[in-house]
Amino acid sequence: MVKPKIAPSMLSSDFANLAAEADRMLRYGADWLHMDIMVTFSSPEYLHLLILCSTYFENPMSAKGYMYDISYHFVPNLTIGAPVIESLRKHTAAYLDCHLMVTNPLDYVEPLGKAGASGFTFHVEAAKENWQELIQRIKSKGMRPGVALKPGTPIEEVYPLLEAKDPPEMVLVMTVQPGFGGQKFMPEMMDKVRAVRNKYPSLDIEVDGGLGPSTVDLASSAGANCIVAGSSVFGASYPAQVISQLRKSVQD
Ligand code: DX5
Ligand code: ZN
Repeated sequence: MVKPKIAPSMLSSDFANLAAEADRMLRYGADWLHMDIMVTFSSPEYLHLLILCSTYFENPMSAKGYMYDISYHFVPNLTIGAPVIESLRKHTAAYLDCHLMVTNPLDYVEPLGKAGASGFTFHVEAAKENWQELIQRIKSKGMRPGVALKPGTPIEEVYPLLEAKDPPEMVLVMTVQPGFGGQKFMPEMMDKVRAVRNKYPSLDIEVDGGLGPSTVDLASSAGANCIVAGSSVFGASYPAQVISQLRKSVQD
């Protein structure tokens, strides 16, 4: 049987007090701390392309929209990177469940491994060709590999990875468009959860986005056992109560 893992998303925490926020969540009963890693330019070529474009456009305002499109952000937001994981690791032994919303996850294996990440979940959309190497490198750095997919990506795209000799140990089904906390849960994503659960009874399946007491039953009955929850936990008057409700839904 798969174990419930309740993972508050630290994206909704007070970043200025990250260590205290992490302690608070662990005291309230969290199993994992979900760390949303979103960074900007992941390779010098992209930066070069951006510089070329910004010099090409005379009007900086018209250039702005275009630059945004070609800047290779995986999501339209910036959060934290390896230095923050490293600082937090000095304060806690907790499982740091890192969700990489980056264009080139391979670039972050080494720094995150050194920083003390526990799980390294990359997006299948960002690892079309090199996922085998990526998974091996993640494991060689002592981290647990996971694969995530955006709402628009069919579940079939993760099957070749799960069927490989060296498979990821978790599938993360996004239940909102990645990038921001506080969005509305997409129940239609539960078909993906059901499909993976049918094929892999003992795999960790994580759901991320819009989860809280009113949506968790849909996810847990579809077969999800790892529940990420940001705004529903951090925004609650009694976060411990929410965490225990989420856990109960998975256990029942
Ligand atoms: C969104 C992130 C989520 C987010 C979830 O891109 O991956 O982890 O923090 O936040 P809520 O639970 O508020 O939807
Ligand atoms: Zn996330």
